[in-house]
Amino acid sequence: MSLDVQILNALRGARDGAVSGADLSQKLHVSRAAVWARIEDLRSLGYDIEASPHRGYRLLGTPDVLHADDLLSRLGKTKVIGRDIRVFEETTSTNDVIEKLARDGVKEGVVVFAESQTRGRGRLGRKWTSPAKRGLWLSILLRPDLRPQDATRLTVASATALRRAIESQTGLKPDIKWPNDILIYGKKVAGILTEMSAELDHVKYVILGIGVDVNLSQGDFPPELRKVATSLKAELGKPVSRPELAVAVLRELDHDYARIASGQFATVADEWEEHGTTIGQEVTIRTGDRRIRGRAESLGEDGALLLRTEHGHLERIIGGDVTLEK
Ligand code: BTN
Repeated sequence: MSLDVQILNALRGARDGAVSGADLSQKLHVSRAAVWARIEDLRSLGYDIEASPHRGYRLLGTPDVLHADDLLSRLGKTKVIGRDIRVFEETTSTNDVIEKLARDGVKEGVVVFAESQTRGRGRLGRKWTSPAKRGLWLSILLRPDLRPQDATRLTVASATALRRAIESQTGLKPDIKWPNDILIYGKKVAGILTEMSAELDHVKYVILGIGVDVNLSQGDFPPELRKVATSLKAELGKPVSRPELAVAVLRELDHDYARIASGQFATVADEWEEHGTTIGQEVTIRTGDRRIRGRAESLGEDGALLLRTEHGHLERIIGGDVTLEK
């Protein structure tokens, strides 16, 4: 654990809100000058830390920046997701960074955030707008013990986790549109891009790429998206703390990943269906050049959408775009 994580933990855990330099130095086995240097560094990043000769140090406020040590300190212990967190000011796509880490053999659970992405991508080859410091753009490396055909379960679990995190942090009540769009009053606020490397019978690794439009203003979206996309700030009428939301997302994902790993996909699927806008609806699905019309019946055990086509067959859909028929 880095010194910054330990200092932030101590400041957050201080019983009467303050902790003395002497106590910090003793607890962390470093000199008081070293503590002071770290405090000064945190201050330069925007952390509002009061230093009083009598009371010691007090954490009065934190900036809306993503700082790996701060995220680790807020998150505390998790089973898998977030035991290693890395933050970049700018990347092409956080999925690219994770892919490299995956190939280098890094353990599952590592999370990469970027304050901005120059080549953020969405599903079906679309571009994902990722302006600096306005959203959460993150990717997670997983090495699940799953067959490739069951990997969609992870996408379903990510959507339920993301929905819960947004609800707990904002009080908003998001819906899930199959496969994993998070909507508020019918407008998209977050999306998930799952990429996978697999052999015939087992998954090597999965990259979960998550984008949340947190504090974007209307003008941050490309004109063609302004009617169909929104941000948490726009829906709430006030900005949302990105570090707090980031930690809630990681905590909920860790919870749902454990549910999948322990064979509880059915409970995840029930939760997904409870908040999904797709099941029970007449829909058109576009996958590649194909268009399939039918009624979305349920989620299959592998996370696929089971669609009763207009010709009466049951089709298993694992990708594509859904349009609800009015
Ligand atoms: C979608 O709804 O089409 C999925 C959007 C996923 C966007 C995220 S942002 C972080 C990660 N890096 C990317 O390039 N894409 C995902």
